Amino acid sequence: MLSEKINALRKAVDDFRPKAEKEIEEFRIRMLGKKGEMNILFDEFKKVSSEQKRELGQKINELKNRIQTRIEEYRASLANTESETESIDMTRPGTADRIGTRHPISLVRNEILDIFRRLGYTVAEGPEIEDDWHVFSALNFPPEHPARDMQDTFFIEKNPDILLRTHTSSIQVRTMETRQPPIRVVCPGRVFRNEAISYRAHCIFHQVEGLYVDENVSFADLKQSILYFAKEMFGEEAKIRLRPSYFPFTEPSAEVDVSCNLCGGKGCNVCKHTGWLEIMGCGMVDPNVLEACGIDSRKYTGFAFGMGIERISMLKYGVRDLRLYFENDLRFLRQFEAAF
Ligand code: PHE
Repeated sequence: MLSEKINALRKAVDDFRPKAEKEIEEFRIRMLGKKGEMNILFDEFKKVSSEQKRELGQKINELKNRIQTRIEEYRASLANTESETESIDMTRPGTADRIGTRHPISLVRNEILDIFRRLGYTVAEGPEIEDDWHVFSALNFPPEHPARDMQDTFFIEKNPDILLRTHTSSIQVRTMETRQPPIRVVCPGRVFRNEAISYRAHCIFHQVEGLYVDENVSFADLKQSILYFAKEMFGEEAKIRLRPSYFPFTEPSAEVDVSCNLCGGKGCNVCKHTGWLEIMGCGMVDPNVLEACGIDSRKYTGFAFGMGIERISMLKYGVRDLRLYFENDLRFLRQFEAAF
């Protein structure tokens, strides 16, 4: 009777073909657990006659060992098949590396600089912490000009001479002070203004300004250079228009609009139904500025222009809120994965 049970169990052990780790564990509990088959056998074994004990005892022990070795073998072979499939399955798709993205401000800055490099400009940079001379005085700002006011400018430790630059025109001053014409530079960088943060203004933003000084530089040169820039940046159909404006450092001065590339000039809510978008300020360098920087204003003339990178990028990529540029939200930044 007991011997039959042992034989039946052994057959069950031999027939067992686990497909997963979980099945082996269930099998172990069923066979070797507290209320498992083996303990039932041992209980019954206590009742067998002493003549049979020797033979049956051996069989039971054999069966127990067999179960234990089987469990180990099954475990080992399952682990093996798993790692083997992993190393030889050439058809499994690889895990894609997620590469980083360039920030849209960097993308647009590089694009602007490349356009002007093609026109023979070189790139010049300068300090973010500046003095009054390079940001205001050399640029013909009168002493009471509101841009010097506490409301616009961040001063360092209440010293009115040391401040965070409010535009990168300071780099143009530094360039003219150290070089003689012909000068053709573009000046990218961060600028700082004490403004309330909103969808269209921020206290930190980025500019590219440009300066061209040589003999016989005219307003027509300025206009053609900017038209070239607009077509390169926004497409061959882009048109520009200049509106009279005022800056202390240029005379005459103008504000540049580009035809709205979203509605093709027909009028939409981005261009406020005018068909035009403002993109930069420009003008002929005021002779006072040339003289302040040690350049002979009777011999040389020049033009300058300046634009906010955030604004150009908003128009180019249809970004509606300037704050997105500063939040480092990956859902925003990953949209520029395809650009380079
Ligand atoms: N510096 C001006 C600004 O920051 C831009 C500008 C540059 C205007 C050069 C005219 C000429 O707003």
